[in-house]
Amino acid sequence: MNELPKIYRGLNGIYVGETSVSNVEGDVGNLSYRGINIKDLVNRDFVEVCYLLLFETLPNPHQKMQLEDFLINHSDLNQMEVSLVKSIDKNLHPMKMLQAMVPLISLETEYQHGYSHEMASGLIVAAKIPSILAAFYQVGRGNEPITVKKGLSFNENFLYRFYGQLPSDQQVNILDVTQILQMEHSFNASTYASLVTASTLAPVECAIATAIGTLYGKLHGGADQAALEMAMNISSLNDVESFVLESLAKKQKIMGMGHREYKVVDPRAKILKPMARELCIGTPFENIYLILEKIEVIMGREMQKKGKDIKANVEFYKGPVFYALGIPSVYFTGIFAMSRVFGYLAHILASREKNVLIRPKAFYIGR
Ligand code: COA
Repeated sequence: MNELPKIYRGLNGIYVGETSVSNVEGDVGNLSYRGINIKDLVNRDFVEVCYLLLFETLPNPHQKMQLEDFLINHSDLNQMEVSLVKSIDKNLHPMKMLQAMVPLISLETEYQHGYSHEMASGLIVAAKIPSILAAFYQVGRGNEPITVKKGLSFNENFLYRFYGQLPSDQQVNILDVTQILQMEHSFNASTYASLVTASTLAPVECAIATAIGTLYGKLHGGADQAALEMAMNISSLNDVESFVLESLAKKQKIMGMGHREYKVVDPRAKILKPMARELCIGTPFENIYLILEKIEVIMGREMQKKGKDIKANVEFYKGPVFYALGIPSVYFTGIFAMSRVFGYLAHILASREKNVLIRPKAFYIGR
């Protein structure tokens, strides 16, 4: 048998392409989209940042309005899509439902726009993901899906349809910031999975469905739900120390901690932590926030003893933020997908310019 070649398990540290969409500087804890640091983007309009990812520069007011109009005008589900949502078991996890629904979305458009065919298809998918999530939630509660309200922003429209009532400005602002922070992250697992699908020249909606299935996993996007539920299962602050020590002794991962790229604090967690604190302290969510904070401290201490740099990632403090927004934890990762889809689309369309089939090798070791 041939000698075992070097195996790049998990592709850890391996460059598999170039990108100009975003830059993750893991050693120093910086993240930028199209050259602009996220610290300078979080307070911008959500659709402006979508535009930046997709078209490489920030939009002028007309370009922003055109993109927002396109998204809002393609948001409402048609009869077939509503019937499909209604036919799905309401106990199914929203991420499985979403992965199944995306390739079934109708991509027809009569709207006048200058977007390429694939850009328009991807934008229609992005427009309908919030509608599918809100419809699934409403139908699960015995209600009819709510249609979009003209004059509300993209994220405001999602909260309106999810809550069944108009959100406050503070709620919209919190969602905007969180969604901007999680919109894009270079060749993360789900983006890369979408690129594998796109590399076979499968259509954009199939590549996005692949990404959504990948995002669902607990080691990736699903850590948001898992981290909050972990904290909710710890009833008292006094139990945190034993929980962490026992988990580590059993080699169980603490959800929302650690990152493949960041060796210092995740820059997104740095922004989310004070937001979570402000939203939770003095409210019924205070205990959950304090439990998470204590987990972070004890994990930091334990990891330091082992010489490891394991810090809180974006998912750790996102849970209390979404929870305080009144969103059930099973919807956290779906809302993540609502924003990350713009990053997927930017990468999929970039890959079309110089497409190469992605097909690695496995070393055969015999039976
Ligand atoms: N809890 C406990 N230990 C952890 C840990 C965590 N959350 N994250 C990493 N470690 C430990 C591993 O056990 C491993 O220890 P070992 O070398 O003694 O075996 C070491 O740190 C390296 O971790 P590893 O899982 O090999 O690194 P990775 O780059 O493959 O993994 C993650 C990165 C994100 C998958 C990992 O940190 C993790 O599982 N985190 C929890 C899930 C999560 O929050 N995911 C969202 C990421 S944004």
